[in-house]
Amino acid sequence: MVETLEWTDAGVVMIDQTRLPRETVFVTCKDYREVAQAIKDMIIRGAPAIGVAAAMGIAIGVQKEDPSKFDEICETLGKTRPTAVNLFWGIERMRKLYASLAGQPLDVVRKRMIEEAQAVKDEDIACCKAIGRFGADLVPDGKIVLTHCNAGALATAGYGTALGVIRGAVEQGKKIAVYADETRPFLQGSRLTAWELQQDGIDVTIITDNMAGHFLKSGNIGCVVVGADRIAANGDVANKIGTYSVAVLAKENNVPFYVAAPISTLDLAIPDGDHIPIEERSSQEVTEIKGVHIAPEGLAARHPGFDVTPNRYVHAIITERGVARAPYTESLAALAKG
Ligand code: MRU
Repeated sequence: MVETLEWTDAGVVMIDQTRLPRETVFVTCKDYREVAQAIKDMIIRGAPAIGVAAAMGIAIGVQKEDPSKFDEICETLGKTRPTAVNLFWGIERMRKLYASLAGQPLDVVRKRMIEEAQAVKDEDIACCKAIGRFGADLVPDGKIVLTHCNAGALATAGYGTALGVIRGAVEQGKKIAVYADETRPFLQGSRLTAWELQQDGIDVTIITDNMAGHFLKSGNIGCVVVGADRIAANGDVANKIGTYSVAVLAKENNVPFYVAAPISTLDLAIPDGDHIPIEERSSQEVTEIKGVHIAPEGLAARHPGFDVTPNRYVHAIITERGVARAPYTESLAALAKG
């Protein structure tokens, strides 16, 4: 399976997700500003992956910068992308450790920050594998699983959340196939989900986003599994733009709609999805593909990167600690307590 990001002596090495699947190119971020830029430019993307990248960005910042710059490092990384709460979770975890090391020699602090960033990465892979084991039981054998965006190895430190559930089901010996929504406008489905499942030899077919209703109605889709960028206390789920439409279509056709996400994606401080900040990305990503205009020049276009699926469409939320079901205010709070 692909290595999404790695800590090395030369810097934080990431596979460049803007260039997949045409080229497999690795980028080395040599300081925290380069890590922040890579997150902004979506060289690395996916909620858990950007949480790990932020932790590594802080670790590299602490190696190279004066200790007086610590807050600036955290703030720069915190200003990259607003929706995925894992980013802020990763920063907070590194901040807490840094505060607890006050008064220690700088070389000790630097070493501990690297170890912590590594631990954030290792724990994320372990979380994904646990999500995969819990989720695999919910996937019907002999059916198609529909997914939206990329919640795979590329969106995490490895293995994936939604694709972790699919990998878990395949490891259980279930005979399943995957329909990957193309996921306009950034094409995470056709470029990334299709690529990584093909690498693993998992049966995957690309559909355009507007075909989802047609196939959900056909009866061959056993369930929908998606990832999440932020889950409010009541179980409302922010995920890639287009997820909400898929959830409504799934309910209309009695197809279970599952969300797979680590506990670090829960934001129990907000009561519902109306409080989730939605990133507005460049309209160029809608009107152009790799610099080629696909709309008349100079026309307005909107590009919210995410939407919020109300909890009533969510059959279950699969975490590394188990499966939460409605009422989510209680089930998520219980899982978060551990
Ligand atoms: O804009 P992106 O590509 O970072 O959005 C990613 C998603 O919406 C994923 O579904 C989500 O982060 C879950 S990744 C395990």
